[in-house]
Amino acid sequence: MNTITMHTRNTTYQIGIMEHGFLLHLYYGPRTEGSMDCLLSYYDRGFSGNPYEVRERREISMDYLPQEYSCFGNGDFRSPAFQMRDENGVFGVDLRCKSRKRYEGKYVIQGLPAVYAAKEEAYTEEVLLEDKASGVEVTLRYGVLPELDVITRSVEVRNNGSRKVFLNKVCSASMDFLTGDFDLLHFYGRHTMERNVERIPVVHGNQGFGSRRGTSSHQHNPFVILADRETTEDHGSCWGMSLLYSGNFWCETEKDQYDQTRLQIGILPEMFDYPLAPGEVFLSPEAVMAYTEQGLSALSHIYHELIRRHVCRGRFRDVRRPVLINNWEATYFTFTGEQILNIAEQASELGVEMFVLDDGWFGKRDNDDSGLGDWVVNEKKIGMTLGELSEKIHGMGMQFGLWIEPEMVNEDSELYRLHPDWAFVIPGRKPIMGRNQLTLDFSRREVVDYIFEKISGILEKARIEYIKMDMNRSINDVYTAAEGFQNYGEIMHRYVLGVYDFLERLTQRFPGLLIEGCSGGGGRFDAGMLYYTPQIWCSDDTDAIERIHIQHGTSFGYPISAVGSHVSAVPNHQTGRTVSLNTRAAVAMAGSFGYELDLNTLSEEEKEEVKRQIEAYKENWEIIHEGLYYRLTDPSKDPDAAAWSFVSRDGSEMFLNIVSMDVHSNAPVPYVRCRGLMPDRLYKVKETGRIYSGGALMSVGFPVPVSMGEYNAWQYHFQLCK
Ligand code: GLA
Repeated sequence: MNTITMHTRNTTYQIGIMEHGFLLHLYYGPRTEGSMDCLLSYYDRGFSGNPYEVRERREISMDYLPQEYSCFGNGDFRSPAFQMRDENGVFGVDLRCKSRKRYEGKYVIQGLPAVYAAKEEAYTEEVLLEDKASGVEVTLRYGVLPELDVITRSVEVRNNGSRKVFLNKVCSASMDFLTGDFDLLHFYGRHTMERNVERIPVVHGNQGFGSRRGTSSHQHNPFVILADRETTEDHGSCWGMSLLYSGNFWCETEKDQYDQTRLQIGILPEMFDYPLAPGEVFLSPEAVMAYTEQGLSALSHIYHELIRRHVCRGRFRDVRRPVLINNWEATYFTFTGEQILNIAEQASELGVEMFVLDDGWFGKRDNDDSGLGDWVVNEKKIGMTLGELSEKIHGMGMQFGLWIEPEMVNEDSELYRLHPDWAFVIPGRKPIMGRNQLTLDFSRREVVDYIFEKISGILEKARIEYIKMDMNRSINDVYTAAEGFQNYGEIMHRYVLGVYDFLERLTQRFPGLLIEGCSGGGGRFDAGMLYYTPQIWCSDDTDAIERIHIQHGTSFGYPISAVGSHVSAVPNHQTGRTVSLNTRAAVAMAGSFGYELDLNTLSEEEKEEVKRQIEAYKENWEIIHEGLYYRLTDPSKDPDAAAWSFVSRDGSEMFLNIVSMDVHSNAPVPYVRCRGLMPDRLYKVKETGRIYSGGALMSVGFPVPVSMGEYNAWQYHFQLCK
């Protein structure tokens, strides 16, 4: 069998090209050499059909041989990676390998976010498949980044035939495992409680999750891990798949009749039915795969590094993000320019570097029932022009940022009155309202153009260094008033392309702008978004204790620098819980740090504490963003203390963070086992002067101070003794 082998530093991926062009998946695991077709067995299996050319050899069936890119129609009855029908509704496709090529550098995907790398950092492997009967060609692209142990995948479908086809399912990645008992780790949630970790056994049949909300969603995240049953944070095999896509998606596992497992991810196939006329091309979003045999932390480290250096772009990729203050939880919609300046003034005195004006500064927007779509500054409300407000804030030594929600419109807005057909509404039906707003049809170029020009006009008129781009509803009533097409899957995909186009134009026209993504907090927290916005508001839940859970789950697939995280007021607005300022800051520091309250309401003592916190964040940001992040406890399982650490890449420094979660009288001492240190060296704690052995910290653990009251936080710096 001919093979295509892709090596990274520690892994090997291998595809087999069988006779008649059948493409098999042979291997993805620890780095190895040689052909892995030795792993295959051939048996005559009842009810597993045989391709016509080899009908005499009943042991050859796509129904159980491991497929590289399975399709419905060639005898494989498992969940296909690719499925299409013709105009008459006939399903059938038989993809065979036609050619392959390898070239230097990483491929790009027109209009979609993708991992990027310098020419010498990556190579591309392309495999061209063809369905002879229809003339449809499918190109599988693999981007190999050897040093990072990452392989990306994307698929191009080209209709070279003479008749229109409809694509029902185009996975970005699909992978078969010949054997193994696996767990699936996925990240589910809800508004204000995103990305909880759930680890479940992969069982026979299909298990899937995804989104049909038009965004990647609060409810499920397009990042998944398949792990051996024994895999822990430190040991064992695990495979990750991250989809760089911010719309409807689907991820699925299938354990088949012979205990083989398939894992796949891609655009939601349900209602997809994407039409492809002769000559047309469809490009799938990219999936990023990684494998390690060193456990879940090592897998997270791969994704952290990849996203930080090969997904996020722009000036802010490598530099410290400004410590910001956002007025949302301080004022909500009710503010005047004077109040804003008041909050800003106090913040600047304490060392905050940027003021962000949240929702309510435009149109008729004093609550969430009206105004979206009218991107005109409400000068009456703020008592001056936006330019003047920004200048005043700059005069305090701070930068200025602004909230926008470009994809939305309220019925009560000038824009809606002018262009009611720009919103998603199905003729003859009453639309489902979300926060009393409708979604603009971003699948239409003229809609994106209009909103882009309006927002650009505002950015050009005032000094604005930051944008928080929000999206506050799930998408219903999908219907486009544009000429020519009416198909749910196509509209939703073009919608996402429209959002990306908007963001791409924004980054091109305003290269210095820092954009923070947001969708009611973390409802669009995906690696696709991170290509345009190097940070995302992690959750609308600012309660420090709940945030420990949310940030823990988020850290599996996303770097700490991507996590927008703020200190807010107590009692917390989402939970009513009161937690010390110290604890709130310790939790918010595990991210891109800021404040979201009126600092004027703090006591003098607390203000001094805020000053120290900002200094501490500035001093530590490098190890926080660039260091290796370790989840030292599982907050849902370890009831006494939650702990996480940042360790410098050479292991010489550790920034340890602990929050006590529960209190007991006369309690045993909880120990937190540290990781990533040098076992044979000593470390001195800056705060206490005490010296600890690296080995003891890792095997026995750090004794958590016993304290009175819940939710105390400690931050310790460990430095290698000379
Ligand atoms: C969303 C965001 C919040 C805030 C509001 C404003 O809920 O997540 O942070 O910006 O919108 O309406």
